[in-house]
Amino acid sequence: MYCLLFAPNSTANYSIIVIPKYEEEKRVIIMTKFPTISAPTFVRDPENASDYDAKHAPYIEIDVIDDIATITVTAGYYVAHPNDPDHFFEWFVLQAKDQPIAHFVGMPEVVNPIMTVEVNLPPGAVIEALAHCNLHGTFKAEAVIPEA
Ligand SMILES: [Fe+2]
Repeated sequence: MYCLLFAPNSTANYSIIVIPKYEEEKRVIIMTKFPTISAPTFVRDPENASDYDAKHAPYIEIDVIDDIATITVTAGYYVAHPNDPDHFFEWFVLQAKDQPIAHFVGMPEVVNPIMTVEVNLPPGAVIEALAHCNLHGTFKAEAVIPEA
């Protein structure tokens, strides 16, 4: 798996500073393109969702220290998702108010991928994580940046 990080958009209401947190810095690529996202399935309550929705819903964990939020997105957290060459998560996106933060590209040899980025966002900012299964489409979850 590798990660594509997006430069902050100057028209955003607030700035987003992306701090790569990868052991191999060379695997992080700064870019401005963003995958096309069409009508994701919003899984509002994955713990009470069907197995189908729960296995595709991204799980978002946020830990705030000072002004930096460490956001971890896990796939297959609620219910294990297949991770075979013909059925796997192709990509993940983390965004705030439609402002892209990071785009992770999945590979089928990674089981239950876990992705972490650090950003500075104000408390109350809504974070969206999207997970795209090559067979079943895109699924979305939301979380709110808590107070430190
Ligand atoms: Fe799937």
